Amino acid sequence: MTFLSSYYFFIRLPQEILIDLDMSTVYHSNTPIGEIVANDYRTASVFSSAGIDFCCGGKKSLGETCAEKGISVEDITAELTEATATPVSYAQNFKAWNLDFLCDYIVNTHHKYIMESLPELKFYTRKIAEVHGANHPELLKVAELFSQVDTELRQHLGHEEEDLFPAIKRMLANPNETDRGTIRSEIDRMHGEHDFAGGAMDTINEITNGYEVPADGCNTYQVAFRLLKEFEDDLHTHVHLENNILFPKAYTL
Ligand SMILES: [Fe+2]
Ligand SMILES: [Fe+2]
Repeated sequence: MTFLSSYYFFIRLPQEILIDLDMSTVYHSNTPIGEIVANDYRTASVFSSAGIDFCCGGKKSLGETCAEKGISVEDITAELTEATATPVSYAQNFKAWNLDFLCDYIVNTHHKYIMESLPELKFYTRKIAEVHGANHPELLKVAELFSQVDTELRQHLGHEEEDLFPAIKRMLANPNETDRGTIRSEIDRMHGEHDFAGGAMDTINEITNGYEVPADGCNTYQVAFRLLKEFEDDLHTHVHLENNILFPKAYTL
């Protein structure tokens, strides 16, 4: 929806605050994107549709991101307001969950999905590179990048499940300096690993033109691109839950 077609009309306040006249929602142009999504996950679809990174790029402000993308802050704000017009259900309110439950949720949904998807996607990306690489050389790069994502994510999930998440749970039960140190050093490392995986998937998205299957693409080509898109979308949600909700809270335990 566009700003002009919206039922909401905004006034601009001196401190770069956009506010709708029914006072139900307030968005600050200097609020980080990740914080907006952490407050209400329904805003993620608005940012995804606009091609805005809310996980690894979540520290950038709404205003800064819109300026970089050449998007109107007013248009995005109107869409955010529409997406969040009804009260959020507790089941979607990740920010309100206990951290030990959030760790378990991430492992049982996103980590499980990744471990199930990696072998399949590694096979498909290699297969289409072998069959179509001569006509579509970008597929060789896709296979190479995904192989790196496979290696890096296996190690990354292991560090979270064996070191970081258990330290968070021990810290919740019995605060101590050893676990506090482990949590902080692990989180610092995890951010770099998220940037690597997110960046590799960004590049795959870019060089495949947003997973666009060419006219000569076979069924395997189509399946591979559909699964890659699903994988990237899930990674965005997963990294968002960690970078914007779990890690900031765990860092202050
Ligand atoms: Fe994770
Ligand atoms: Fe992670």
